[in-house]
Amino acid sequence: MVGSTMVSPFGGGHEQVVFCQDEQSGLKAIVAVWSTALGPGLGGTRFYPYADEHAALADVLALSRAMAYKASLAGLDLGGGKAVIIGDPRRDKSEARLRAYGRFVESLNGRYYTACDVGTFPEDMDVIARETSYVTGRTTAHGGAGDSSVLTAFGVFQGMRASAEFIWGTPSLSGRRVGVAGVGKVGRHLVGHLIEDGADVVVTDVDPRAVDAVQAAYPSVKAVADTASLVREPLDVYAPCALGGALDDETVAALSARIVCGGANNQLAHTGTEDLLSQREIVYAPDYCVNAGGLIQVADELDGFSFERAKARAERIYATTLDVLHRAKDEGVAPSTAADRIAEQRMREVGRLRGVWLP
Ligand SMILES: NC(=O)c1ccc[n+]([C@@H]2O[C@H](COP(=O)([O-])OP(=O)(O)OC[C@H]3O[C@@H](n4cnc5c(N)ncnc54)[C@H](O)[C@@H]3O)[C@@H](O)[C@H]2O)c1
Repeated sequence: MVGSTMVSPFGGGHEQVVFCQDEQSGLKAIVAVWSTALGPGLGGTRFYPYADEHAALADVLALSRAMAYKASLAGLDLGGGKAVIIGDPRRDKSEARLRAYGRFVESLNGRYYTACDVGTFPEDMDVIARETSYVTGRTTAHGGAGDSSVLTAFGVFQGMRASAEFIWGTPSLSGRRVGVAGVGKVGRHLVGHLIEDGADVVVTDVDPRAVDAVQAAYPSVKAVADTASLVREPLDVYAPCALGGALDDETVAALSARIVCGGANNQLAHTGTEDLLSQREIVYAPDYCVNAGGLIQVADELDGFSFERAKARAERIYATTLDVLHRAKDEGVAPSTAADRIAEQRMREVGRLRGVWLP
């Protein structure tokens, strides 16, 4: 690897980074395990047309680290792992390529469990499962959890209720104006919870079909042209549910909302954005704290999936978010820093127990 944009697999503290290639099927994949301090690394497989392998490596290194924090904060006995398959899922996905990938996952002998992510679906996990048992996010027909966005949205809603309790002294969102950017799988389910709670919802999406689907299901939902317009609307809560980097300086400056709480991963565009939010007295419920419901949902498959058990665990996101926000206030730090501290503390304290030798 050459060039100034090179990312070192050794630089980020990862335990293991595995490059996988099967020329016949065209498979080029990278599996990254950041930590197994709390258990096997569990994280989805992103099937994405990366510009080059450096971009793929950078993505999988960052994503696997984030999974460790998400699992730890959610109280799961899981480390942090993630995988990427380089390619266009619409063009390059084939049974042979997925099964070749499954054999590499199997070769890690349970240090890494895979699941769905951008570009992969429960049906793909069923194909991968023909070569490995270290796979979750399977279809309900195969005993899996199916679409993980159901509990992701439910968890985000819990995080939003906790943030409302923190700011307004009541968890109810009734009468609050909530802006949802991106009404795909997570955003759409979130809108359902909000409407049921009596919120006034305004949405946007680059795909007009997504907006039409939400308005067909919930006629009271208002839509605006784009995210730039949405963040300038009078809002009580802003919920980024599309892509990463949603909270850049311009967005934070434009927001009238008191709370930011959404499903998207990696919402802070750069280091320092969390301070801008604090300066504007906007409470930011950390993304990986509130969007852990999907991880909780697929992790439950390891014990034989029970939706009710997974839902009960996702409900705890309410208490975790409240804990994060109070700790941030008490310690005079941004909520994202408080969340990191709690996650790191658990990794340290519980991970250390592996050092107690069991005969
Ligand atoms: N699905 C899960 O279980 C899960 C779990 C944790 C985190 N997340 C994160 O939540 C976010 C949404 O995931 P999803 O599963 O709903 O994905 P999705 O692809 O179903 O939905 C994303 C939606 O955002 C829209 N969008 C894209 N760019 C946009 C833009 N610039 N402005 C407005 N809308 C835009 C898309 O058209 C799409 O409708 C992602 O960041 C994902 O990483 C998802």
